[in-house]
Amino acid sequence: MAKKVLENVGLFYQHYPRIALVVTAASGGKENAMTVAWHMPMSKDPPLISFVTGTSHFTYKLIKESGEFAINLMPDTHAEMVAAIGGSKGENCDKFATYGIEKDQSVKTSAPILADAYAAFECKVVEEKVYDGHSMVIGEVVATHVQEGCFWDDGTVNLEKVFPVLYMGSEQYLNIEKAGVRMLKRDVYAKELKL
Ligand SMILES: Cc1cc2nc3c(=O)[nH]c(=O)nc-3n(C[C@H](O)[C@H](O)[C@H](O)COP(=O)(O)O)c2cc1C
Repeated sequence: MAKKVLENVGLFYQHYPRIALVVTAASGGKENAMTVAWHMPMSKDPPLISFVTGTSHFTYKLIKESGEFAINLMPDTHAEMVAAIGGSKGENCDKFATYGIEKDQSVKTSAPILADAYAAFECKVVEEKVYDGHSMVIGEVVATHVQEGCFWDDGTVNLEKVFPVLYMGSEQYLNIEKAGVRMLKRDVYAKELKL
């Protein structure tokens, strides 16, 4: 297939589909949530997770004040809620009341946990790196909330119970009626390629 070579940086950030999750935070009696597609785990031990946020976002302000946040993984059934959270500004609006978002109690931080999240991770900020209007926030996971039956024993998501919200960019979300997985053992395939 022919490739176009672009003089500019083009679509370098289009690494989709990506899970769209919800980052929550609280400070000074205010709490808020924002949708985030740019995120990743960074280390297993210590358990570090990072995400990128615009520094003008209200959630970022609450994270800077409290030094805490929570990552909430939402099921595909709640994609509309994820879109609403990512389409609204929390500075002058209570997203929890406006969209009827229920909360669970956090145990180690002040960050609210979304009751409908199939998994949520409470984090303490350990570091951040700011680049002109964007910050990569790195947090250490200090508590985990998991809905029963949503993960298999090997830690993979049980797709019979729950499917993550997969964002395609440009306001599009993957619509998967019946998801399946393929087992491709890395050592088996690495050997085959070496032959
Ligand atoms: C699917 C989706 C993914 C998003 N991903 C990010 C992201 O990775 N980083 C970011 O800063 N904003 C992202 N946004 C935008 C924020 O969620 C949005 O600006 C939100 O209004 C910020 O809320 P706040 O000002 O109340 O904190 C995303 C929005 C959507 C709908």
